[in-house]
Amino acid sequence: MSNAPLPDIRIPDDLKPGDGRFGSGPSKVRPAQVDAVSAAATTLLGTSHRQAPVKKLVGRLRSGLSTLFGLPDGYEVALGNGGTTAFWDAATFCLIDRKSQHLSFGEFSSKFAAAAAAAPHLDEPEVIESAPGTHPSAVAREGVDVYALTHNETSTGVAMEVRRPEGADGLVAVDATSGAGGLRVDPTQFDAYYFAPQKSFASDGGLWLALLSPAGAERIERLAASDRWIPAFLDLGIALDNSRKDQTYNTPALATIVLMVEQLEWMLGNGGLEWAASRCDRSAEALYGWAEASEYATPFVAKPDERSHVVGTIDLADGIDALTVSAVLRANGIVDTDSYRKLGRNQLRIAMFPAIEPDDVAALTRCIDHIVGEIHR
Ligand SMILES: Cc1ncc(COP(=O)(O)O)c(C=O)c1O
Repeated sequence: MSNAPLPDIRIPDDLKPGDGRFGSGPSKVRPAQVDAVSAAATTLLGTSHRQAPVKKLVGRLRSGLSTLFGLPDGYEVALGNGGTTAFWDAATFCLIDRKSQHLSFGEFSSKFAAAAAAAPHLDEPEVIESAPGTHPSAVAREGVDVYALTHNETSTGVAMEVRRPEGADGLVAVDATSGAGGLRVDPTQFDAYYFAPQKSFASDGGLWLALLSPAGAERIERLAASDRWIPAFLDLGIALDNSRKDQTYNTPALATIVLMVEQLEWMLGNGGLEWAASRCDRSAEALYGWAEASEYATPFVAKPDERSHVVGTIDLADGIDALTVSAVLRANGIVDTDSYRKLGRNQLRIAMFPAIEPDDVAALTRCIDHIVGEIHR
């Protein structure tokens, strides 16, 4: 954005979305979720996480996730503190036996690869990269015991299908931080599908959740029992043990869990993952359909089937400054549409998680047209 003063553009109220939060994380929280926190004000909040009421809540979280994802018999839900970033470090101790293969196609997928590369007890990982705006494919390799995929690369707006690499016998671990709950997934295709609550589950950050296949849990238990040194906070064996008792190893943020359970049960009450994913499909249709028809906006991701339905990235033509457009939107109460900073593109990034109304995404596109029309009058 230049140093020129921000154009004073007022977006007419009848063009504006009902809710102006389009951030890719933390994402919009629905007011009903905050009501649930209020309702817990004198009951759950401020009470022990080792006692029945909070353990029941954690139980609702674990069984709700199991239902939402249609987990097959033997799969289980684990959780712990620290968010996805902590889970990556935990995975270098407790999921990767010797060698991992990483698909690296943006900021987040590259971070797990870097964590594995830095772990002195592991072999050098294999990293398969592709340019931002695309994704590479995993390739079965002798000696690879974890294939690290990313369901949705939040920094670029690329989504990939979760599928076991043909002929591979290693575990499949999927970073689903921004994909889980908004994109469809077949649980038989993964051994660990891990995420955090601040995206589709419209809660706060700070927790990690992992859906584990029997093989995933078995790997954790074997490595946890081995003579490998594992910091207790990153010990997935300890986390799994606690999760099975509907608790966490150390104290969790209870309000975060209340917010998440409310969102999860909202999804389940409306029809589950298929319903949530269909909402995201409708938002994506509105966003990409608009960009494709626009003279100045273009979907960044060239292949339609790789365009994420939860985080959309839209390039703007030269001469239309995306930072100015985002700043004018913000001045009008429509926030967090900026691109991922390290990508360095003239781009808007717009979240379309289930909490976000598809009609609000359509309204946002009309607001962008209004701003661009005013600037270039
Ligand atoms: C795909 C992906 N992975 C990992 C992370 C990091 O998650 P956390 O902030 O919970 O550590 C993010 C956060 O935006 C993400 O989008």
